[in-house]
Amino acid sequence: MNKTEQTGETLETFISNPQTPLERKIFSIGPWFHNLHLPDGTQTAPNHPLGDFPYFKWKKISEALPESLKGWRVLDIGCNAGFYSFELAKMGANVTGIDLDEHYLRQARWAARQYGLDGRVKFRKMQIYDLAHSTATYDMVIFMGVFYHLRYPLLALDIVAQKFKKLLLFQTLTMPGEEVMEPVEDLPIEKRDLMLSPGWPRMAFIENSLAGDNTNWWAPNHAAVDAMLRSSGLKTIRRPDHEVYLCTHSDIDEVISYEPDELSSAANSVRRMIIE
Ligand SMILES: C[S@@+](CC[C@H](N)C(=O)[O-])C[C@H]1O[C@@H](n2cnc3c(N)ncnc32)[C@H](O)[C@@H]1O
Repeated sequence: MNKTEQTGETLETFISNPQTPLERKIFSIGPWFHNLHLPDGTQTAPNHPLGDFPYFKWKKISEALPESLKGWRVLDIGCNAGFYSFELAKMGANVTGIDLDEHYLRQARWAARQYGLDGRVKFRKMQIYDLAHSTATYDMVIFMGVFYHLRYPLLALDIVAQKFKKLLLFQTLTMPGEEVMEPVEDLPIEKRDLMLSPGWPRMAFIENSLAGDNTNWWAPNHAAVDAMLRSSGLKTIRRPDHEVYLCTHSDIDEVISYEPDELSSAANSVRRMIIE
């Protein structure tokens, strides 16, 4: 669902001045959002405006993960050109990457062959809400850089919470503010000004565009990320990087007050609205 004409990623780049056959191939399937370091050292987006992205994030994130993921089944949601899928496969995991954009899936499938990882990583065109209609579960789910692009973010978070057994790696665009206030049991109607406290869970709605990207819909503060994760039955065990949350399931069963059927039905409705 788009606000107006979809502009898509604005942090993508083309490799400049391609010389070798490999560079020309990279150029022909650009622009790239992920700067992949291919086996011979060639990079797919060496001029990325964020720097060596997402390698500089991965350096911190990987330190928070188990050393080996041998035998783990991993789902990478919004996999883009597959940077995280490839890193996790190198650690021993069997990875499924999903994305709704064929442009990125083409890059990911091509890169998998360059790395010789095409036996361990598969990429599928899939909308996140459709995960509600599959019974497949994974040891670990990567849900990075997607939440805030979604029209129905909590529906997606609830679906994702049912898809992993051991770990969830979650990242969202946020708004400034690290304060967290003690959750209020029941907010009296005349005390609604409390919601203006800096530590109240808050999520800004972006009606038009942020950073030139009109698919950015939401920016929660840290308190809201914490609260939304809790209300989806999750708990944060580490924050390996800015805006990145490593989660497990929380021990409190009562927080989940909906049934999988409800999710599936909601996902069906969203699907019908978007597609039909
Ligand atoms: C900002 S990029 C993040 C890429 C990668 N996960 C990362 O963290 O670097 C968002 C990706 O999510 C994909 N995406 C956006 N909405 C999606 C949806 N509803 N279902 C599946 N993928 C989606 C986009 O096509 C894009 O590749």
